[in-house]
Amino acid sequence: MKFQTGKATETPRRFLVSALLAAFIMLVPGRGLAVKRAPAGPAIIPKPLRMEVGSGLFHVGQETKIIIDSDSLEAREVGEYLAVRLRRSTGYPFETGLASGKIPSGSILLRTAAALAKMGNEGYRLTSSKGGVKIEAVAPAGLFYGVQTLLQLLPEEVEGGTQPADSGWSIPFVRIEDEPRFVWRGAHLDVGRHFFPKEFIKKYIDLLAMYKMNMFHWHLTEDQGWRIEIKKYPRLTEIGAWRRETMDDATPHGGFYTQEDIREVVAYAKTRFISVVPEIELPGHCQAALAAYPELSCSGGPFKVGTEWGIIYDVYCAGNDRTFEFLQDVLAEVIDLFPGEYIHIGGDEVPKLRWQNCAKCQERIRAEGLKDEDELQSDFIKRIERFLSNQGKRLVGWDEILEGGLAPNATVMSWRGVVGGIEAAKSGHDVVMTPTSHCYFDYYQGLFDEPRAIGGFLPLDKVYSFEPVPTELSEAEARHVLGAQANIWTEYIEDSEQAEYMLLPRILALSEVAWSKKDLRNFPDFSRRIIPHFDRLAAK
Ligand code: ACM
Ligand code: ZN
Repeated sequence: MKFQTGKATETPRRFLVSALLAAFIMLVPGRGLAVKRAPAGPAIIPKPLRMEVGSGLFHVGQETKIIIDSDSLEAREVGEYLAVRLRRSTGYPFETGLASGKIPSGSILLRTAAALAKMGNEGYRLTSSKGGVKIEAVAPAGLFYGVQTLLQLLPEEVEGGTQPADSGWSIPFVRIEDEPRFVWRGAHLDVGRHFFPKEFIKKYIDLLAMYKMNMFHWHLTEDQGWRIEIKKYPRLTEIGAWRRETMDDATPHGGFYTQEDIREVVAYAKTRFISVVPEIELPGHCQAALAAYPELSCSGGPFKVGTEWGIIYDVYCAGNDRTFEFLQDVLAEVIDLFPGEYIHIGGDEVPKLRWQNCAKCQERIRAEGLKDEDELQSDFIKRIERFLSNQGKRLVGWDEILEGGLAPNATVMSWRGVVGGIEAAKSGHDVVMTPTSHCYFDYYQGLFDEPRAIGGFLPLDKVYSFEPVPTELSEAEARHVLGAQANIWTEYIEDSEQAEYMLLPRILALSEVAWSKKDLRNFPDFSRRIIPHFDRLAAK
């Protein structure tokens, strides 16, 4: 996010309403306690499609084995993942093995079964009883989500490495059938405004996986920093990854990921069934790249890596073939690093001033018969889209890519409200809903003692109230809504701790928005289920 009109006027009224609500909860006797009491049964987030709870507990112990009944290597990896998690917290051996003959009673069985195909690749069935635990799915992703549910059924100490009190390492008897509502359950992180180390990126991915999120949108390039090593253009990180200061603080800031780091993160995410969507911003938000290669601009520069927040006039020259050669070279290396289907190309907040005054850009407008600079931007994106399509990738961009005409196979990320998303879906394009109003986790989430944020007010209940499918869409059009995503822009988020603070607990609300069936969503119920997750996350 950057800057926009409107949000400042939205804040005071919401602030007042929420302040009154908070005062009510705190002052009315008994009310606060009622709101805060945790549920007696399992507190699974996101809420499963169907869950029956029996009476009785299944205990894991020294002898418990993890058995995998599947030909899939990935399914075995899910079994190994579970074993590692359980060994670390319980200290028990949790031997793993492939199924052969009779499954020993008291085991945790992971099985892929074609018969469960109607649940889709991410659905699963989990049963626990005296005889053991069984997780069944048509595909390894479903097994992985079943494992996440299993971990939430275990005591919170499973996250932390201390021993549980009370009933020990046990889970209630349950029968759960579950599958997601949306295929895109995303969270974004801007590592351009501030750099976050690889170790934190992995932690972020773990937090997403815990709540069955499956898309990590990695915003890798910005005016204030280029964070991905590109072998063909070393100055992008030699120069573009470092800025002299930030808003006059006289303190240098920077950092970048080597290609080896990127491969490590992508592989880590894959074992957690998270696809990493890299974002390489174009045609704007590219001052760090222009500082390294000023010949790609309209004016020729010179430029410095951005040291202030806001929108910068200098963008890639749309009339220079060198720009496209450069971007295709960069994207070729990006494609090589990110095996996922989607490449995000930004496309937001592109001032047209430089293009208006550039002979090359104006010549391109004339030669291509374009109407204006909006169509020049559209032409820019279409060139990139053709390149990505030819490489078997799908382009996703912020909703400004609608202006001047949408590229043929583009997916739109609707951030300036949902209007862009509606327009895209109506014209047959896929969309991901991420409006500032409900999905911008750089906004304030509380009333008092909050660390400085960019503005806005987005408390937990408002995130939870988000409905990704606008009523304006027909059923057929609604199928173009792939899902929802949280965005964390980091102008005012300087370190990992604060990024984590902004993510939590709001991502739990968004995970339920994106995973759970619409008519199962209920905020009072969610606010009871979330209570034990605070201890769980603290343990983690
Ligand atoms: C954005 O927040 N500029 C996508
Ligand atoms: Zn130009």
